[in-house]
Amino acid sequence: MQDKTLKILFLGDVVGRPGREAVAKIMPQLKEDFSPDLTIANAENVAHGKGITENTLKDLQNAGVDFFTSGNHVWKKEGRRLVSEKKFPILRPANYPEGVPGRGFQILNIFSKKIAIINLIGQTFFRNNYTCPFIEAKKILKAIEHENCNAVLIDFHAETTSEKRALGYYLDGQVSALIGTHTHVQTADDQILPNGTAYLTDAGMCGVRHSILGKNKEQVIQGFLQLDAVDSDWDDEWQEAIVQGVLVEIKKNGKAKEVKRINKVVIN
Ligand SMILES: [Fe+2]
Ligand SMILES: [Fe+2]
Repeated sequence: MQDKTLKILFLGDVVGRPGREAVAKIMPQLKEDFSPDLTIANAENVAHGKGITENTLKDLQNAGVDFFTSGNHVWKKEGRRLVSEKKFPILRPANYPEGVPGRGFQILNIFSKKIAIINLIGQTFFRNNYTCPFIEAKKILKAIEHENCNAVLIDFHAETTSEKRALGYYLDGQVSALIGTHTHVQTADDQILPNGTAYLTDAGMCGVRHSILGKNKEQVIQGFLQLDAVDSDWDDEWQEAIVQGVLVEIKKNGKAKEVKRINKVVIN
């Protein structure tokens, strides 16, 4: 492993049962094609679209996911308990106020390499006033400096493309990869920034292909036409799903060698 690059497979927000089943179905092929050393998934939507449960996290672990990041929806269902326990390897965004349960970053030891995973959430277009992700990122990097990590990956869970690209350039060269989540729509700007950070504005989602962010499309359309007069729910049935994410390859010096979007269609 000494001179080998480190390969991290990162999957965008896994939405509900269709997302879990599609990930399970395609994972053997992804592992064969890319041989990742570590597989991470954003799990905030894994339990019927909002939140997490023990069983739904176990489904993803059984499918081959090693580690979980999350976002604003993680607290629903069994979320509050599960992020505060150490039973599952799951992060919540680091820039919540002090006293909120759970942890926002963790250092993993894989093949005698230290990999720091950091989860942050954006400030733009969220109902809550999270603390500044730019300042929080610098604080965490300072706090783990002495660990001399071989790689640092950030999941930046944010709504706007500008906030994500800004954090990418702000941290360029200081982290191995900054991957965006939350919009459930994959962007096409996978690139290595000038100082060596692998970057993608949004990894996309794993869930029903013909849906609106994983929700039933007819109901969401009616929601735009009739506003509060209708509710929309997450799709549970599926024929076609997408599995979207990114593969990042990191060199010995912690800089990115390659970043490649993954966008697969899975048939049930
Ligand atoms: Fe999400
Ligand atoms: Fe989110």
